[in-house]
Amino acid sequence: MAYILGIESSCDETSAAILQDGKILSNLIANQDIHSKYGGVVPELASRAHQQNIVPVVEEALKKAQIQKNQIDAIAYTRGPGLLGSLLVGSSFVKGLSLGLDIPLIEVNHMQAHILAHFIDDNASTPQFPFLCLTVSGGHTQIIKLDSPTEMEILGETLDDAAGEAFDKAAKMMGIEYPGGPLIDRFAKTGDPKKFHFKVGKMDAYNFSFSGLKTGILYFLRDNIKTNPNFIAENKADLCASIQNAIVTALMHKVEKAAEDYQIKDIAIAGGVSANSELRRRFHEKSDIWNVHIPKFEYCTDNAAMIAMAGYFKYLDKDFGKLNAAPLARMKF
Ligand code: KG4
Ligand code: ZN
Repeated sequence: MAYILGIESSCDETSAAILQDGKILSNLIANQDIHSKYGGVVPELASRAHQQNIVPVVEEALKKAQIQKNQIDAIAYTRGPGLLGSLLVGSSFVKGLSLGLDIPLIEVNHMQAHILAHFIDDNASTPQFPFLCLTVSGGHTQIIKLDSPTEMEILGETLDDAAGEAFDKAAKMMGIEYPGGPLIDRFAKTGDPKKFHFKVGKMDAYNFSFSGLKTGILYFLRDNIKTNPNFIAENKADLCASIQNAIVTALMHKVEKAAEDYQIKDIAIAGGVSANSELRRRFHEKSDIWNVHIPKFEYCTDNAAMIAMAGYFKYLDKDFGKLNAAPLARMKF
């Protein structure tokens, strides 16, 4: 039996979780509301908030899991990718704790952890290898093929904006506060997805491009506001539904192509955008031909439970990190 403490601090959520052999005992997340008034994450403010939150969040995670810190067997933390200042807070904290408790560190890649969240034992289902995962977050959009928890290959990815970024930027143009993805999702529920037609650029193979969509929305809004200054307010639900439809359709199209080409039936989604209700609905619709895997809502956006889970696989392989490792803003698989 092993207790793993997971620490996530790559962007604007400070999170700590305790995992006991694949089972989550606690998963605490301190969100940083400060960024919404700036329309995006402000790196300096994020680092400062991590400094304020990290100790209380870890203490709360231990308390909720009802264990003492000297019972922890290893500490898994996000080494990258992410904001360097934010990563530095987490990595410095875990190095101190690892030295103090004399237990090993485990370096985790944040994007891999989003996928491995599927193996936390309270999810509805667990994918069978090999499986495909559409990983969609604020910084990444990738289609990954997994042959084991540690063997992953990127089949395709975005060449410019990530899907979450496309949601957030579209929201910003409509005056919706950051992060706009969840709000677009909410407003879209009463809108007509076919009311407006937005084009997503066509890319080769399994790659994506969302920058053209962003420009298309910008010009479309600008032209319509010229004739009707209240255009956005009057059409908010339909605009949100139509934009969401364009993004989700582009994502589904490439996943379907990859599933067909590789003849893989276990298909998963991961990352913050996998919290999107339309994407989840479209995945569920494929259940007759795919074994669809959708993580529990709380394991979609950034959280330390997924870091602890990814760390646990490395713990079993005794793949421990080094005390002189620097965080990596860009971290390869
Ligand atoms: O994985 P995540 O929490 O952080 C990163 O690693 O980037 O993803 C955050 C992204 C943001 O762009 C946010 O707008 C988007 O996920 N997101 C959503 C929804 N919930 C979060 N996008 C669309 N619909 C949602 N329900
Ligand atoms: Zn993430």
